[in-house]
Order: sequence, then structure tokens, then C-alpha cells
Amino acid sequence: MRISVTHRLAVLTCWPLLILLTLLAPNARCQEQTVCLQCHGAQTGKGGLPVKAWQGSVHAANGISCNDCHGGDPKDAANAMSPARGFLGVPVETGIPAFCGRCHVGIMEEYGKSAHGRALGKGGPTCVTCHGSHTIMKATLDLINEKNCSRCHPYNQAAVIKEAMRQTDALISDSERKLERFKGEGINTEAREKHLFDLRNRYHRLFHVVDVGRVKRESGLIRQELGTIEQALMKLDEQNRRRKSAGMVVVGGLLMAAILTYLLKKTFDN
Ligand code: HEC
Ligand code: HEC
Ligand code: HEC
Ligand code: HEC
Ligand code: HEC
Repeated sequence: MRISVTHRLAVLTCWPLLILLTLLAPNARCQEQTVCLQCHGAQTGKGGLPVKAWQGSVHAANGISCNDCHGGDPKDAANAMSPARGFLGVPVETGIPAFCGRCHVGIMEEYGKSAHGRALGKGGPTCVTCHGSHTIMKATLDLINEKNCSRCHPYNQAAVIKEAMRQTDALISDSERKLERFKGEGINTEAREKHLFDLRNRYHRLFHVVDVGRVKRESGLIRQELGTIEQALMKLDEQNRRRKSAGMVVVGGLLMAAILTYLLKKTFDN
């Protein structure tokens, strides 16, 4: 009996809270209250800033918290920042690509081979130069702009890369919209969707090589593959149209037959 009463109480107090929370923050996943967030969230100044900055980030939205990047024990306040619990602290500049690359493996590899990666520690940018460390947002081509990219060298090569990628991006979005339409008509687009998804991923990592020649070559290859997808879609479209017009003929025929029967019946009845 006692259990059920407390249980009911808990339910009674929890549900309105949960509903209120969902209403207030429709996009917020349940962010686990770690000791890192509790202690740093209460700090003023330098120690508290990362919490505020992180809260609106793509990482917070995907459940990547302080300890996922910095290590440490998120459940034990007394030993949270002990190296024995895996605390990594703040990475030195040359350690940043590997720090982020634990999760973004493919990108770290592309970056490592690039002119930027080769200049690591010698004036080249690291991941946080372009993305920030706590305020990290979904990445778009808007990150390539004169203000960000002319700090260390002229902007012209950056502009060429951006334009090539913008054009390819528009083509990919175009194919995505077409696929959506086919899907809406009940056609199985699964294989082509996967193909497009892989293309998109390959293409979005491409930026990190910062190599105009390579970007142009790969953009060309991706265009070719999009062409193949496009042709397959056109074939589907035609098949669809044929099926539809065949359907129209059948319906039309049936209608004619019905009218004829009706007329015949009328003449007989008279
Ligand atoms: C009980 C309070 C408390 C808890 C819990 C706590 N921190 Fe800290 N943290 C601090 C204080 C105070 C500082 C600044 C003084 C210092 O560097 O030791 C700090 C500094 C840091 C720094 C900067 C270190 C440096 O070398 O400059 C990082 C990174 C950090 N904390 C991450 C974490 C993470 C991740 C967790 C959870 C696993 C965590 N903290 C838990 C109080 C806390
Ligand atoms: C996506 C990975 C990532 C996450 C998540 C993250 N940090 Fe950091 N943090 C970094 C990096 C990288 C640096 C080094 C920044 C730099 O060099 O610009 C850093 C630096 C810091 C510093 C030192 C700041 C300074 O000015 O010296 C503190 C303190 C800190 N982080 C605390 C936190 C806390 C608390 C959280 C959770 C709210 C958190 N971090 C979440 C990557 C992360
Ligand atoms: C010179 C600036 C710059 C540097 C350095 C840089 N990035 Fe990026 N990053 C970008 C730009 C610009 C995009 C967007 C490209 C696009 O939209 O196709 C991007 C995209 C991304 C994406 C999203 C990819 C996707 O699939 O949409 C991730 C994740 C990422 N970067 C992580 C990293 C990591 C990790 C590092 C360090 C190893 C790093 N970046 C270094 C500028 C940079
Ligand atoms: C513990 C794993 C982990 C670490 C470490 C990490 N990230 Fe992420 N990151 C993720 C996840 C998960 C996402 C969300 C899913 C996705 O978009 O890939 C993400 C998303 C991103 C995005 C947005 C991708 C997009 O689609 O536009 C960028 C940019 C990014 N991270 C950069 C960084 C940088 C820079 C660092 C280092 C300071 C870093 N990440 C460290 C796991 C991590
Ligand atoms: C912190 C300094 C810094 C920033 C910021 C920076 N770069 Fe670079 N970049 C370098 C260095 C260093 C090199 C290698 C030496 C050189 O070519 O000047 C380089 C080289 C390049 C190259 C030539 C690669 C080659 O193979 O010739 C391109 C393209 C490039 N960066 C694009 C960008 C873009 C796009 C941005 C902005 C998103 C950017 N850079 C931001 C430092 C930077």
C-alpha cells in the first residue's frame, strides 16, 4: 500500500513537471545532470562560461557532455577531475585534432593530410580555430568566409573551393527533393537514398583537404554519380507515367462500358 501511494505521488508530481519541461524546451533531450555541469554551472567567470556556451551547441543536443570531451568521472564530485578517472584536462594546441578526432575519425584523417594539418603548431588552424570549442554548431559552407579565411592567407583559393562546393551541394539537395517526391508516391527509394547519403557524407568531409584540385575532381565525380541517380529517377518517372496512363485507359474503358450498358438497358426497358 505504502509503495503504491508513494508511487502515485511520484507520478503525480513527475508528470506535470515533465510536461512543463517538454513544453518549455521542445528540442532539449534529457541532459544528464553530471557533477561537471553542477559544479561548473555554479561557477562565475572562466569556469562557468563553457557551460553556457555548450548548452546551445550541436554536442549538447546530441548528448555529448563535458566528460565526453575532457574525460573524468561525471558521477563523483570529489574525484571528477582526477587523471586516475581519465581526466584529460585542456588539450594543448597541437593535441586538439586528436582530441576531437577520437570521434570524428574520418575528418581528422583528411585534416591531417591537408596543408592545414601539415602546418599544425606552425601557424595552421586547428579544429577549434574554425568551429570553436564549446559553441560548436552544425557546420555549413557559411564557415568559409572572408573574415574567417583571410586571417592567415589571401581568400581567393577559399572562394574557389566554396563556389565549387556550393554548386555540388545545390545538386545534391535537388536530388534529395526528387527522391522525397518519389517516396511520397509510394516508390521504394531506399537504395538510392543510401547512395545519396553516402555521397553527401563523402562530400562534406571533403572541405578539410583544402585542396582546390582535389575538390574540383571529387565534385566532378560526385556530379557523375548524381547523374546516374538522376537517370534512374527519370526511368522510374516514365514507368510511373505509363502505369498511370494505362490506368486511365482501363478506367476510361470501364466508364464507357458502364454508359453503354446503361443506354442498352434503357433502350430495352422502353
Ligand atoms: C566540485 C567542483 C568541480 C567539479 C565537480 C568539476 N570541476 Fe572542473 N574545475 C573546477 C574548478 C574550481 C576548476 C578551476 C581550477 C582548476 O583548474 O583546478 C576546474 C577546471 C576545469 C577544467 C580546466 C582545467 C585546466 O587545466 O585549466 C576543465 C577542462 C574541467 N574543469 C572539466 C571538468 C569536467 C569534465 C568535470 C566532470 C568530469 C569537472 N570539471 C568537474 C571545479 C569542478
Ligand atoms: C566538444 C568537446 C568539448 C566539450 C563537450 C566541452 N569542452 Fe571544454 N574545452 C574543449 C576544448 C577543445 C578546449 C580548449 C579550448 C581552446 O584551446 O580553445 C576546452 C577548454 C575548456 C576549459 C578551459 C577554458 C579556458 O579558458 O582555459 C574549461 C574550464 C572547460 N573546457 C570546461 C568544460 C565544461 C565544464 C564543459 C561542459 C559544459 C566542457 N568543457 C565541454 C572541448 C570541449
Ligand atoms: C579551416 C577551417 C576548418 C578546420 C581547420 C576544420 N574544419 Fe571542420 N568544417 C569546416 C567547414 C567550412 C565545414 C563545412 C563543410 C561543408 O558544409 O561541406 C566543416 C565541417 C565539419 C564537420 C561536419 C561534417 C559533415 O558531415 O557535415 C565536422 C564534424 C567537422 N567539420 C569537424 C572538424 C574537426 C574534428 C576538425 C579538426 C580535425 C575540423 N573540423 C577542422 C571548417 C574547418
Ligand atoms: C565524444 C565524441 C565527440 C568528441 C570528442 C567531439 N565530437 Fe563533435 N560531434 C559528436 C557527435 C555525436 C556529434 C553529432 C552527430 C554528428 O553530427 O556527427 C558531433 C557533431 C559535431 C559537429 C557538427 C556536425 C554537423 O553535422 O554539422 C561539429 C562541427 C563537431 N562535432 C566538431 C567537433 C570538434 C571541433 C571537436 C573537438 C573540439 C569535437 N567535435 C569533439 C561527437 C564528438
Ligand atoms: C590560423 C591560420 C589559418 C586560417 C584561419 C585558415 N588557414 Fe588556410 N592555410 C593556413 C596555412 C598555414 C596554410 C599552408 C601554407 C599556405 O599555403 O599559406 C594554409 C593553406 C590553405 C590553402 C592552400 C592549400 C594548398 O594545398 O595550397 C587553402 C585552400 C586554405 N588554406 C583554405 C582555407 C580556408 C577555406 C579557410 C577558412 C575556412 C582557411 N584556410 C583558414 C592557415 C590558415
